[in-house]
Amino acid sequence: DRPMRVLALESSCDETACAIVEGCTVLSSVVASQVEVHARFGGVVPELASRHHLDALAPVLRGAVEQAGLRFDELGESLDALAVTDCPGLVGALLVGVQAARGLALATGLPLHGVHHMEGHLFSTLLRRADQGGAEAHELPEHLAVLVSGGHTELVLVRGLGDYTLLGATRDDAAGEAFDKVAKLLGLRYPGGPIIDRLAAEGDPEAVAFPRAMMNKKGNLEFSFAGLKTAVATHIERVGQPDSRQALADVCASFQAAVVDVLVAKACAARRLHDCARIHVVGGVAANRGLRAAFEAAAAREGFTFATAPLAYCGDNAAMIAAAGAARHRRGWLRAVELSSSTSLDD
Ligand code: KG4
Ligand code: ZN
Repeated sequence: DRPMRVLALESSCDETACAIVEGCTVLSSVVASQVEVHARFGGVVPELASRHHLDALAPVLRGAVEQAGLRFDELGESLDALAVTDCPGLVGALLVGVQAARGLALATGLPLHGVHHMEGHLFSTLLRRADQGGAEAHELPEHLAVLVSGGHTELVLVRGLGDYTLLGATRDDAAGEAFDKVAKLLGLRYPGGPIIDRLAAEGDPEAVAFPRAMMNKKGNLEFSFAGLKTAVATHIERVGQPDSRQALADVCASFQAAVVDVLVAKACAARRLHDCARIHVVGGVAANRGLRAAFEAAAAREGFTFATAPLAYCGDNAAMIAAAGAARHRRGWLRAVELSSSTSLDD
């Protein structure tokens, strides 16, 4: 009953990634980010993403195999299985990883698991580097997952691998999308999340009273961030662009606090409703320091266990995809690769 050794590829958006894991212990993880390519366009350009995935794939794959101390021509013997992200994402971008994985499967004779990108994010909390002691657990405990990325904002009740119930999602923008759009309004670079995070640390979260959407109705687990984005735009129209670093930091801190308040309040409500002992926060936005601190405080106050991913595994990576593939392979749950546009985990 040993953890499975799996190599995975991930190319759903603007990161080309390859990793090798043993269960949730990371033997190697290489991520080539295209952020610089897309920054000058203020967002991800799908055609450019596909092209850069093509260029990056071979070196990233080679890098991950070397970093794990394996030999390329012995992969068929040294691995148990392969995995690849096949949904959701930009189809032209996904296709690059999928076709490379199919080629590897043919060449090595290894089984290939199609993995849902968001199921990958669920595993990110368990990932630990082999040279730092490795993972303690290889299976998902029962928990309330807060999935917050550039494309998703979802509360999902996770009872175990493959057992996902969607409790609430955003009606419009995803949390990460809101960070990126507000950053753009403020003249900051793409992706805006990390920049706002840094500036917010210097600002006053109570400087501007931004709205907390859909907080009044008890039991409403839906989100909406479009109104908040409009409120920031209206604020800028009224008082002008922030004219100092402090004023900019204040707007960032106030906006971030509005996002964090809603995420924490709704996640905690969902946890109580379903009598769940743990909350896990995953996805690119899970890197946000304000969000992590607020969940830590809530956990101490309400007595639940809070877990999130190590910073290195919050954003898109292939280690999380490999870990999901390893858990599925251990059970013999093979889902053949099928490029699909399915977005939610419980579709
Ligand atoms: O999971 P991810 O890397 O890609 C998707 O699957 O979408 O998430 C990317 C999103 C972007 O919107 C980015 O601005 C946001 O995560 N993000 C952050 C932070 N770091 C990345 N948002 C807030 N604070 C951060 N520190
Ligand atoms: Zn992601």
